[in-house]
Amino acid sequence: MSQDFRQWMKATQAVCEDALSAFLPSPDIIPGRLHEAMRYATLDGGKRVRPLLVFAAGKLFDAPAELLSRAAAAVEIIHAYSLVHDDMPCMDDDALRRGKPTVHVHYDEATALLVGDALQAQAFSVLSEGDGDPATKLAMVRLLAQASGSIGMCGGQAIDLASVGLALTRDQLEQMHRLKTGALLRASVLLGAMSGKVLSAADTAALDTYSAAIGLAFQVVDDVLDATADSATLGKTAGKDAADNKPTYVSLLGLSASQQLAEQLCNNAHAALQPFGAQAQLLHDLADLIVQRTA
Ligand code: IPE
Ligand code: IPE
Ligand code: MG
Ligand code: MG
Ligand code: MG
Repeated sequence: MSQDFRQWMKATQAVCEDALSAFLPSPDIIPGRLHEAMRYATLDGGKRVRPLLVFAAGKLFDAPAELLSRAAAAVEIIHAYSLVHDDMPCMDDDALRRGKPTVHVHYDEATALLVGDALQAQAFSVLSEGDGDPATKLAMVRLLAQASGSIGMCGGQAIDLASVGLALTRDQLEQMHRLKTGALLRASVLLGAMSGKVLSAADTAALDTYSAAIGLAFQVVDDVLDATADSATLGKTAGKDAADNKPTYVSLLGLSASQQLAEQLCNNAHAALQPFGAQAQLLHDLADLIVQRTA
């Protein structure tokens, strides 16, 4: 990863932080505690991989900054909500997230439930407001809704919870990962691209192939890091998947085959970008980041 890429990443993460802060209700607005908890769950933490994908894809298609900020914030707010609910006692029962106590620990369970609900609504509000062609915005709202719901992230989470203690086949595990994590990553790439020029069928197909590869790779690496990294580095409890008897790529294939798969998927992602040439360098580097990350 080049120095240029690292600088772009830092600057884009800062833009994203400002957008999130501006788009989330102030704690001065009633109910202040709920608004404070929404900000606690979303601001000042996380790698912001989904917003980075939005901005990188948007740059490739000359998208205006205002639309990209809204799309990036919307997808990150959905992601933040998914983490709050994922950590609750009825799901993964985790006490640590992004280096801080989880929302249900720091506040309480009812607040965590409401934070997730309110963040989800806020994401769609953010995406639907502001400038931009109304038909495109409607298509973006629909895309994010489908990626978040029962045929996307929530569907994957349902399969995850129903699979505890089961030996899934490789196809079943892949489907679970594609839904629970891949769907929002794909949405990030497409939302960024859609914010710019009208996409040809070939553009959409290439972006879909890229997104499918990085979406699966992201969760394969998440499974690997759960087994290999420590809690301080991850900012969340390490070793949780094995402790909870979750089917993961590590439990199915072992560590080294999982790492090889992630690298293969990274190569597939790079290959899918070939039609875009050097213009797609940011998306190329983001695939590397997703596979080479240590947290
Ligand atoms: C963690 O996502 C949950 C998964 C979908 C695997 P991230 O690894 O993107 O978490 P943050 O946003 O950086 O905290
Ligand atoms: C969660 O997957 C994916 C979501 C949709 C939030 P994990 O349960 O593996 O995520 P972590 O490891 O807790 O971040
Ligand atoms: Mg989970
Ligand atoms: Mg979890
Ligand atoms: Mg995990």
